[in-house]
Amino acid sequence: MIDLKSVSLIYQDHGKEVFACKEIDLGVQPGEFLGILGPSGSGKSSLLYVMSGLKVPTKGSVEWLNRDLGKMGDQERADIRLREFGFVFQYPFLIGYLTALENVLLAFPAEDRRADAEKFLIELGLQDQMHRYPYQMSGGQKQRVCVARALLGSPKVVFADEPTAALDHKSGRAVMDLLIQNRGQGALVVVTHDPVMLEGADRIIRMEDGEIKN
Ligand SMILES: Nc1ncnc2c1ncn2[C@@H]1O[C@H](COP(=O)(O)OP(=O)(O)OP(=O)(O)O)[C@@H](O)[C@H]1O
Ligand SMILES: [Mg+2]
Repeated sequence: MIDLKSVSLIYQDHGKEVFACKEIDLGVQPGEFLGILGPSGSGKSSLLYVMSGLKVPTKGSVEWLNRDLGKMGDQERADIRLREFGFVFQYPFLIGYLTALENVLLAFPAEDRRADAEKFLIELGLQDQMHRYPYQMSGGQKQRVCVARALLGSPKVVFADEPTAALDHKSGRAVMDLLIQNRGQGALVVVTHDPVMLEGADRIIRMEDGEIKN
């Protein structure tokens, strides 16, 4: 359902080109759980950004259901991200003046999804945090709020960038189980440095210097 063809993402750094992704060919199938491993700086986050349309590749194409994300307008790409994709960022990204529950409901009319949002927060062990604000929560609790937000609305693909990095093993396992259970007919793409969290993955790729080394 996602098709990357010869994708390169090049950052400009003080006039120097940094190849965060180098000519990557990669497909993601419906229902697939894909794991991405690799050392720090190898381009894992960059790869997730281009796969999910958050960044447009410098070269090559990314197709979502045979449509080139890079050839669409910004609004159309943003709509696809909103309706079809869920994203867990490497660092928790919450609105400071909204509670945990309000942050989860951010993209939806609250009454439609409130029960689902509460269910996810409870499954993530956050029943006591629902009405608290980000400054009152730990890093790991905030990360779990982001996981609940990414799952809301049954996205077709969930992209998760180090979703368990701030968590102890047990909470990390709970996050992974929830991500795996809720992928439904969709796909799940997880970046992690902990191979244990990729138990049950259909496929694992390893990145090194912007390239896939398997
Ligand atoms: N905005 C930017 N400008 C210039 N270079 C960047 C930028 N963002 C990332 N890079 C570089 O691109 C490369 C890949 O970065 P990326 O964040 O994708 O790595 P990563 O594998 O996710 O690392 P980590 O495990 O530490 O999160 C690195 O060399 C990084 O320094
Ligand atoms: Mg990263």
